[in-house]
Amino acid sequence: MAESRSRELRASYEAEGVAEHYAGGRWSGSRHARRTHRKELRQVARLLGWAAEASGGALGAVLDVPCGAGRFQPLLVASAGRVTAADVARPMVERARGSGGIPAAPPLQASAAALPFAADSFDLVFCFRLLHHFAQPAERQAVLAELARVSRRWALVSYFDAASFQAWRHRVRGRRTVRFAQSNRAFDQESAAAGFAPRRRLWVARGISEQVLALLERGS
Ligand SMILES: C[S@@+](CC[C@H](N)C(=O)[O-])C[C@H]1O[C@@H](n2cnc3c(N)ncnc32)[C@H](O)[C@@H]1O
Repeated sequence: MAESRSRELRASYEAEGVAEHYAGGRWSGSRHARRTHRKELRQVARLLGWAAEASGGALGAVLDVPCGAGRFQPLLVASAGRVTAADVARPMVERARGSGGIPAAPPLQASAAALPFAADSFDLVFCFRLLHHFAQPAERQAVLAELARVSRRWALVSYFDAASFQAWRHRVRGRRTVRFAQSNRAFDQESAAAGFAPRRRLWVARGISEQVLALLERGS
């Protein structure tokens, strides 16, 4: 992964007040934020349910990276036998502690592009709201390849859809952005290069919102 972008991103999430905001008002401070959060939870739950069903009824070990302030921990803990959480930013890791509502292993500080786990450690790796932070295919591929290394079977990831109204509006306004949308085709190519095949895709608001969720399965 390009080191400078990686360092810049980590620093932006370690800046003072950011983890507090993410744990608090970011997802509850406005009606729009609350609605987006609810929709994201619903779509993630649907894809987890689908993966569990295809796995014979249950998911065993799940990795949540980046866990942020632990927003998805309660859902993941309810959906899997064992949940591990990791994030590159120390203040996020501290905020995520205890967010699953059960005594669990403490979240780890680690980069999604260099995870401290053996190959095939997890049944499913959950990677939400990270890939759109990278402009370069090589940066996204480094993360996808690492997810494929530590997952025995599934990855549930999000990315930003270049064919959405929000992405179009960003292009038209021409503002400098630190969030990068891509085509579904480009995403499929990048995940295929990491050894994943797409199994299910859901949108938060198809055609409008940039957020896409994809359930990927490792090829045999
Ligand atoms: C938009 S937040 C998403 C957090 C969580 N998945 C959620 O949706 O609430 C992005 C997170 O990615 C983390 N992050 C940035 N670069 C990372 C990397 N290379 N590896 C792991 N985490 C990273 C940040 O610290 C931040 O917590």
